[in-house]
Amino acid sequence: MWRVLFFISFFLVAIISAADLSKGNIGKSLERGLDEYINTGHKSKELTKTLKRLQFPGLFRKELKRGPLSDLLCVTCDVGIGAIIKARQLGASRDLLVDIVVKLCIWFNLEPDYICHKLINAHADTLVFIVDNASQATSKRACSILFQKEGCTDPDREDWTIDIPPRTHFGNNRKSPSGAAPLKVLQITDIHYDPDYTIGTNAACKEHICCQPGTTPERQEDAAGRWGDYRGCDLSMEIITNALDHIIATHENIDYFYYTGDIVDHNAWDTSISRNSDAVKTILRLFKTYFPSTPIYPILGNHEPHPVNAFSPDDANNTQLSTQWVFDLAAEEWKDWLPADTQKTILKGGYYTVLVRPGFRIVALNSNVCFTLNWWLMYDDVDPFDQLKWLVGVLLEAERNNEVVHIISHVPTGSGDCLQNYGKEFTRVVNRFADTIVAQFNGHTHKDENVIFFNSENPREAINVAFNGGSLTPYHHVNPNYVIYDIDPESYEVLDYALFIYNITDANLSPSLTPTWYQLYSFKRAYGVNSLRPNEMAKLAENIARNRSLAQQYFRFKFREADTKLAEGCDDDCHLLNICNMVIPYYGYTLHCEILSEIFKNSTTTKR
Ligand SMILES: *[C@@H]1O[C@H](CO)[C@@H](O)[C@H](O)[C@H]1NC(C)=O
Ligand SMILES: *[C@@H]1O[C@H](CO)[C@@H](O)[C@H](O)[C@H]1NC(C)=O
Ligand SMILES: *[C@@H]1O[C@H](CO)[C@@H](O)[C@H](O)[C@H]1NC(C)=O
Ligand SMILES: *[C@@H]1O[C@H](CO)[C@@H](O)[C@H](O)[C@H]1NC(C)=O
Ligand SMILES: *[C@@H]1O[C@H](CO)[C@@H](O)[C@H](O)[C@H]1NC(C)=O
Ligand SMILES: [Zn+2]
Ligand SMILES: [Zn+2]
Repeated sequence: MWRVLFFISFFLVAIISAADLSKGNIGKSLERGLDEYINTGHKSKELTKTLKRLQFPGLFRKELKRGPLSDLLCVTCDVGIGAIIKARQLGASRDLLVDIVVKLCIWFNLEPDYICHKLINAHADTLVFIVDNASQATSKRACSILFQKEGCTDPDREDWTIDIPPRTHFGNNRKSPSGAAPLKVLQITDIHYDPDYTIGTNAACKEHICCQPGTTPERQEDAAGRWGDYRGCDLSMEIITNALDHIIATHENIDYFYYTGDIVDHNAWDTSISRNSDAVKTILRLFKTYFPSTPIYPILGNHEPHPVNAFSPDDANNTQLSTQWVFDLAAEEWKDWLPADTQKTILKGGYYTVLVRPGFRIVALNSNVCFTLNWWLMYDDVDPFDQLKWLVGVLLEAERNNEVVHIISHVPTGSGDCLQNYGKEFTRVVNRFADTIVAQFNGHTHKDENVIFFNSENPREAINVAFNGGSLTPYHHVNPNYVIYDIDPESYEVLDYALFIYNITDANLSPSLTPTWYQLYSFKRAYGVNSLRPNEMAKLAENIARNRSLAQQYFRFKFREADTKLAEGCDDDCHLLNICNMVIPYYGYTLHCEILSEIFKNSTTTKR
């Protein structure tokens, strides 16, 4: 027995060191090749050979599983960005720098050539500014941000923290549910309006976004349908107005409406200030037409700025790189729904707070600043726009005034896409103000999923839930949806919610008819829970880990029974990922994921 174990571990060590060696060699070989290319413009045979092993197609829009390829990615990123920084220090011009980045994009097969050109050129000046002015930016630091969820790390980084005053005001702000008729709250998120969506074009393309004019499907089944497509298309105006028509006809008594971000489509290389502004204005004005007397609380998504994902700091105020225009636009377009005193923080950083009724406050955050593809994080990632500092101040005041709070934000902190440091500090805030914050509402992941936050001093106790509104866009492999929450009018806790969808496959079979919207499920009934309180949700997560048919149901609802997703199915790894995502409030927090994984694995072994 021991001999076998010894042999196995010896073997493993041998394999690991061989992989290490080849990783090191690849890094060296890439570094030599890039140096030569940058100095002489000559692409050596060795470089060509090395690049064959370093292919990461669609890297920024696909999940890259942890493993040998993600290890190679970290080395590649480190060497690639290192070469760019070095070249600039040695006096490379802006144009040479841009040329190198475009080449790297093409050589690593990140995107088709023409997209590499357009995308890099849209971001070029921002990247040059960051390389020139970010004093602490090292290649390792940049890679640890860009490829956080692929596991790239920076041994030298030190986390920042925000000041959170201890409790002085004791007693719980939370009230018991009143039993009165619940408020009906609509959440729509992630519309991703594509003004160019064209019926009959190619829905099975290789780019970020399909169903684009001028493209032709190879097969009839690849043609874009009138009512959308699962494979990478956003929404036509016709689909959006159909959804809104359906909502106002079906739900007469909506008390208010959360729009949790992402209006602009996934055509990320073709953005411009005017194109994005037009989309934002069009959709928000549509909301005004459909909901003339319903309060609407909107926030920005990571797709609203140009260039996409970028939220520039004050230091870039007076340059062409400034994304201040997106805050100016929000301040202008949201002002009919919000009190005048929200203007100051919207202009500063895209965030605001509103006292909706006595005792109930909404805090709207611009959590897009934590998105790992917001390049400006490489320049300065410390509490952008002083937002978390402001949040603490608002919550302290709310605590003193016996208010309860809903937090709405686009990028959930639990997503691997949100910088760990930001997520960790935000989770500290949620812990400190657990008696004040009753619920959170997010978008961005396009999935119907809930994330549970735990008491850091007593991890058995769950303290908060972040609900995700899914997406109206079917991008990708989901059916379009919106959510109606039942909210108690005294305690403002979420009592229940119902999810409404239509089946794209079915709708496209009869294109001349409008889609048949239906209620996919209502939460309490579907999961047999007594409430949606944090501890009850934590118990449910455990039950899902224990019960395969419940896990299968969670999977089906998470992707809103999209045909392509159901056909793909969900294996053990997929179920585990779904389950873990319910209990990861910020990237790198693994405690509850480990516990639930063990329960899941136990139930697998006993069942079979
Ligand atoms: C940042 O770098 C740019 C060149 O890319 C330069 O023009 C600018 O003055 C720098 N700004 C600061 C604040 O250092
Ligand atoms: C940049 O703009 C913000 C918001 O308008 C302002 O508060 C800040 O002082 C400006 N910074 C600089 C350096 O101009
Ligand atoms: C969606 O519609 C198609 C076509 O009618 C049907 O085959 C499929 O089963 C439906 N999907 C679900 C989950 O009901
Ligand atoms: C598992 O969940 C299903 C509902 O999806 C339920 O009908 C069944 O009784 C559960 N099984 C156990 C052992 O709890
Ligand atoms: C898993 O099963 C083992 C062996 O039956 C048991 O000791 C352990 O406590 C179980 N773990 C969980 C989390 O249920
Ligand atoms: Zn989105
Ligand atoms: Zn988003």
